[in-house]
Amino acid sequence: MVDLAPGNLVEVRDLEMVFAPRAKLFGSGKARPVRAVDGVSFDIRQGETLGVVGESGCGKSTVTRCILGAHKPSAGTIAYRDPQGRAVDLAALSERQRRPYCTDLRFVFQDPQASLDPRMTVVDIISEVLRVNGLATGREIPGIVAGLLERVGLQPESAGRYPHAFSGGQRQRIGIARALATRPRLVILDEAVSALDVSVRAQTLNLLKDLQEEFGLTYLFVSHDLSVIQYICDRVVVMYVGQIVESAPIDALYIRPRHPYTEALLSALPVPDPRRQRQRQRIHLKGEVADPANRPSGCAFHPRCRFATELCRTTAPPLQEFGGHVAACHYAADLDLRGVLSDPNPQVAHA
Ligand SMILES: Nc1ncnc2c1ncn2[C@@H]1O[C@H](COP(=O)(O)OP(=O)(O)O)[C@@H](O)[C@H]1O
Ligand code: SF4
Ligand SMILES: [Mg+2]
Repeated sequence: MVDLAPGNLVEVRDLEMVFAPRAKLFGSGKARPVRAVDGVSFDIRQGETLGVVGESGCGKSTVTRCILGAHKPSAGTIAYRDPQGRAVDLAALSERQRRPYCTDLRFVFQDPQASLDPRMTVVDIISEVLRVNGLATGREIPGIVAGLLERVGLQPESAGRYPHAFSGGQRQRIGIARALATRPRLVILDEAVSALDVSVRAQTLNLLKDLQEEFGLTYLFVSHDLSVIQYICDRVVVMYVGQIVESAPIDALYIRPRHPYTEALLSALPVPDPRRQRQRQRIHLKGEVADPANRPSGCAFHPRCRFATELCRTTAPPLQEFGGHVAACHYAADLDLRGVLSDPNPQVAHA
């Protein structure tokens, strides 16, 4: 049995996803299992946008795929409040048991090109979703599709066209219309704007904000891009090698990060104040994200961390809380890390 705190739509607890070892091409020794998600816990509150950020390979997509049922988690629970208000554990459901929730929980993928069937017209793509889920019958469909297209800023007359006739940004709008066709409550967006040009990206983010307000949607928004996360999210969790290393409300994290990994990611962002921008130094992270099949000892970030000590090499840091701001670093309370937003209240946190 699972339970949820009031106001939460999803509560992920101790989620683990371990993939079977990959065959070794070179060298000897036993290949190790890939711990892509390694004990992740977070809440998604009703009506908010929760961001998940981290470099490529940190386990973000694996978390979303567990929520959507594409992977059966190796351990942990995914408590979800269904439309009737009951708590269900999505991690424990079979494919068949999960089906009733498919309309409520929808996905927008990174690459609209790959996720839209090139042989189907837009009206076919969207009506298929309506038909499969028994949400509309033949005669109602054209009207519903036209309404959805209009709502995402596309010409209803374009419904008879094939995906290749649209630009990248328009194709992503088709993907959004398809996701919304079932009137979901939770939409998971995995790098949904990452393939778009900067100006198209901003328009798409604005559209997502409008749709959220209009339909009361809750978003789980995954991106490697901290400027996108800052623009659209209310709270954010930062992942590193399958674990959450920091989580906080957006402003708190961008004013004063508590984990050196977050500080390094933030250092790549421009700050609005030109004087501060000139004084800033980008923190270049050495090497790459560690292999989840071969997690470094102690704090997994230690091989790349400029503050690492012997303690970091031997002992995994516990999560520490600072008033709703959580970080897994031995020195989270002491380090004076740099963010990108100015602090409106410098006595409490650092400028
Ligand atoms: N099906 C799979 N089998 C084996 N390893 C996988 C599989 N899916 C993902 N991984 C590995 O898990 C880790 C996390 O991947 P992913 O969740 O895609 O990260 P992200 O979305 O943050 O880039 C990576 O090391 C990746 O290679
Ligand atoms: S625990 Fe140590 S290695 Fe890990 S982030 Fe903190 S200072 Fe760096
Ligand atoms: Mg991914």
